[in-house]
Amino acid sequence: MDLSRYIIPGLSEIEFSFLKDAFHMAEKAGDIQMKYFRRNNLEQSTKLNDSDVVTIADKQSEDFILDYIHNHYPEHGIISEESGNENEGRDWRWVIDPLDGTTNFSSGLPAFCVSIALELNGEAILGVVYAPYLKECFYAVQGKGAWLNGKQIHCSEKSELSKAVLATGVPYDRKENPDNNMQEIVKLAMYVRGIRRMGSAAIDLSYTGAGFFDAYWELNLNRWDVAAGQLIAKEAGAIIESIRSNRNHSILVSNPYLYPSIRELLRKE
Ligand code: IPD
Ligand code: CA
Ligand code: CA
Repeated sequence: MDLSRYIIPGLSEIEFSFLKDAFHMAEKAGDIQMKYFRRNNLEQSTKLNDSDVVTIADKQSEDFILDYIHNHYPEHGIISEESGNENEGRDWRWVIDPLDGTTNFSSGLPAFCVSIALELNGEAILGVVYAPYLKECFYAVQGKGAWLNGKQIHCSEKSELSKAVLATGVPYDRKENPDNNMQEIVKLAMYVRGIRRMGSAAIDLSYTGAGFFDAYWELNLNRWDVAAGQLIAKEAGAIIESIRSNRNHSILVSNPYLYPSIRELLRKE
């Protein structure tokens, strides 16, 4: 898929050039993922526990992206899932999840993507989430809107909870930490049309931006899971709020109409 044809009107020269590079990295990482998807004997191992998988495709996507950043932006900081931090304290920082949705990927399920964000002083100014099997590329530049394959996207306008379709996730540390979202899922399920567990936080956020989901919440995510997708959802008009102070990135992302009622239901008694 040729992502270079997608443009956002009104970008500054520097924004245009960052976006072009982010597209290039996303496209090549997507090609690597497709080379391994549904291939027999995919090389893989586990990290925190059996639910936390990493494959050769995660590593090769990351290697490609890191090489590109080293060559083109040697002075920039980087945080990426499999390699950690580089050049800490720099103004510009790339935030990379080389393959989000690895459990899906390793099982042959199509909801997986590469997520690339660029931050300036800790604030995301650009985000690209590219799902190569689905051929969906979501992207946003701060103040310039959010887009899917060349079309501007907006979050949904639904206001009735009983018609809302929500996405969520289940944290990797669910067995050790009782704050594991189980009660919230059971509770919300009684009020909404449906709850989905897609298995990719970056896709959940992008789909909320596009109005495919009306809202999304999840606990204990990492910066690389959310940096690009949050900017996409925000630029599409969604409200984003942190819902825990002690649990990494724990967020509710919703269209503005449903936000107050979902926020209330998620409140801990
Ligand atoms: C995971 C996915 C999943 C979410 C997990 C993430 P990974 O990322 O985004 O949807 O529930 O918390 O860690 O491990 O596939 O990159
Ligand atoms: Ca991830
Ligand atoms: Ca990942």
